[in-house]
Amino acid sequence: MKVLSAVAWPYANGPRHLGHVAGFGVPSDVFSRYMRMAGHDVLMVSGSDEHGTPILVLADQAGVTPREFVDRNHALIAGELCDLGCTYDLYTRTTTANHYAVAQELFRQNWLNGYMVERTQQGAISPSTGRTLPDRFIEGECPICHYADARGDQCDNCGNQLEPEDLINPRSKINGEAPQFVQTQHFFLDLPALAEALGEWLTGREASGTWRPNVIKFSRNILDEIKPRAMTRDIDWGIPVPLDGWRDNPAKRLYVWFDAVIGYLSASIEWARRRGEPERWREWWNDPEALTYYFMGKDNITFHSQIWPAELLGYAGKGSRGGEPGVYGELNLPTEVVSSEYLTMEGRQFSTSRGYTVLVRDVLDRYGPDGIRYFICAAGPENQDSNFTWREFVQRNNSELVAGWGNLVSRTAAMVAKNFGEIPAPGPLEPVDEEVRATVLSGFETVGGLLERHRQKAAIAEAMRVVGEVNGYVSRTEPFKLKGEDQQERLATVLHTLVQCVADLNTMLAPFLPHAANRVHRVLGGEGELVPMPRLETVTGLDPEDEGRSWPVITGDYSGFPRWGSRPVVVGTPISKPAPVFTKLDESVVDDELARAEA
Ligand code: MF3
Ligand code: ZN
Repeated sequence: MKVLSAVAWPYANGPRHLGHVAGFGVPSDVFSRYMRMAGHDVLMVSGSDEHGTPILVLADQAGVTPREFVDRNHALIAGELCDLGCTYDLYTRTTTANHYAVAQELFRQNWLNGYMVERTQQGAISPSTGRTLPDRFIEGECPICHYADARGDQCDNCGNQLEPEDLINPRSKINGEAPQFVQTQHFFLDLPALAEALGEWLTGREASGTWRPNVIKFSRNILDEIKPRAMTRDIDWGIPVPLDGWRDNPAKRLYVWFDAVIGYLSASIEWARRRGEPERWREWWNDPEALTYYFMGKDNITFHSQIWPAELLGYAGKGSRGGEPGVYGELNLPTEVVSSEYLTMEGRQFSTSRGYTVLVRDVLDRYGPDGIRYFICAAGPENQDSNFTWREFVQRNNSELVAGWGNLVSRTAAMVAKNFGEIPAPGPLEPVDEEVRATVLSGFETVGGLLERHRQKAAIAEAMRVVGEVNGYVSRTEPFKLKGEDQQERLATVLHTLVQCVADLNTMLAPFLPHAANRVHRVLGGEGELVPMPRLETVTGLDPEDEGRSWPVITGDYSGFPRWGSRPVVVGTPISKPAPVFTKLDESVVDDELARAEA
């Protein structure tokens, strides 16, 4: 099967924190790694989301141009996601000429088909810069309860929804000046004209029974209140509107969310172009048999279950106004919107501004990728909000990774090294050996089935349960007591069985713990890497407009994934005294990290 893993595009506004990678990063990679091992043809794409007002504001504050600002953050984010082990076929960015062209093609065809309609709107702009002031960047006194710091979209004191022009003495949060309310022309995506087609698509998806219940419910609800939404902004940072009279207007650009979701398509096209097979992307986008999964945190659902499908339907001419597809043809709508909930930090919301934050880069530098990938899979916000605490992080690392899985690997290798120095040939199997082999083999089916349905928490719990069963096998067979000459054959049988179980478990855990999987592979006498890793590559633009620029992307050769399932270990493979696979963390980590987070 062709499987598209479409991963939410992080804003290039700073480094990532744990909440981000718990929402989209780790789940998408675990899924993609598993699907490749299961033999599917996976294309995993994403990139940095580099437009929008907040980025412009932050760049101003940092005293750099928006381009310098996103260049810097894109490089940081690509480095973090790569070190976390995320196997993007292409992690690119939205400020490429390729992306501009694809976004403009989608806009133009939606317009030609009649789904982009021009309207006049009352809007707030900053008088000094002429840029749009989004509602949430306007503050003032609440006209209802007279709270002094109400926001332009709502009052946090009385909870009422507001319009920015209702505020008493409105001011810009950015520079304090009074906003100017002006009549401004914008293009609106005519969502009501696409509502019926959207509803049909959602009904079909609901019938498949695979979507998470809260995601489908939310998507249905927002369909009931559907109205046209502006897809352009008064801003000078973004993609020009590709129509005469607009193209050269430096103050009008496409709305950041309009272009960001198109990134999935433009990145697929860029990937194909970079491979020298410019039409290859079509296998994932034009073939209705292809499966397309979108990974994100829950604040992104609207854009993936409504705006993006609407852009695709409008592009294909499938709304009430009819129309024709553009040059890309009929494009697949999402098979499933896989959204996670929120991760809180020590009981509080992750927030970069309020100082309760854990940066991915810091965790990677201090503890490596395994512990955090494990935590997110085992205790992350898959179906409900979940909480990260350093105590639980240390405890899971020490009792589950070190004492559970790591210890099984180490004592297996140590016993083989000491008694045989290589994987011994087994004698006849006893029922206890047959039983543990059967448990491990059925683990592949159970864990694989769960992973395919995005039930990663249950999947890793099942894999760790099998680890426990194999640890139990060691207790039952007591190989360390098989010392006599006449027990050598039995010892060889038990240790052979054990090595086979550990090798299989390593395959089973590889989607979750790929870095550890490569270490375990070598502990068991393997050479090179069991599973592929992504790499950073510096590329230049594909189009003349990008001349002179170069930037890092994440890419990789993922053809070498082992198949999901048991592979017989090779008798005679040398095994020496093992180095530890995981590192035990001292309890002091908890207090040290808490002190850091508060600092
Ligand atoms: N940048 C957005 C966020 O961090 C996500 C964009 S997902 C995309 O919330 F599909 F639109 F790119
Ligand atoms: Zn109020």
